[in-house]
Amino acid sequence: MGCNCAESALSVDTALLEPYLAEYGGAEGGLISLLQKAQELYGWLPADLLINIARRIGVKPAKIMGVVTFYTQFRTKPAGKHLILLCQGTACHVNGSAGIEEAVREYLGVDEGEMTENGLFTYNNVACLGCCSLSPVMMSGGKTYGGLTKDSAVRILKEIERGEAV
Ligand code: FES
Repeated sequence: MGCNCAESALSVDTALLEPYLAEYGGAEGGLISLLQKAQELYGWLPADLLINIARRIGVKPAKIMGVVTFYTQFRTKPAGKHLILLCQGTACHVNGSAGIEEAVREYLGVDEGEMTENGLFTYNNVACLGCCSLSPVMMSGGKTYGGLTKDSAVRILKEIERGEAV
């Protein structure tokens, strides 16, 4: 008897991805665009989805996992509603980003890459965000917060929680 559990037990609805499988699936260099689209749709890339994508576009799961783990933009764990990107590039590091990370980590009660229990936040360390003159910097909801201190970083997180910032 055949097993179709790979189809039926997926953690996300792959119907949403169908148009993009058709658009990028066979295209040269289309894999990254397809994975970006999948992450945009689902917020993260669960392993069962990646295996399903591999099967659908005819590449080895190991190749997809290699791409996903190589690029820091891809998440293999669920992300919170607000994704906080904390810059740890050279300029930000020199200006105290390690201390800011400590304050963020303590306030949120999670380690890097983890989601808070209430599902509101995930924070990730990233390399240079491209606005070093504002260092130290973090980004959330497409907004850049510069000149951070430990206190201002936590204050911004509180504002985001209250819906007063993004
Ligand atoms: S090093 Fe942080 S923005 Fe460039």
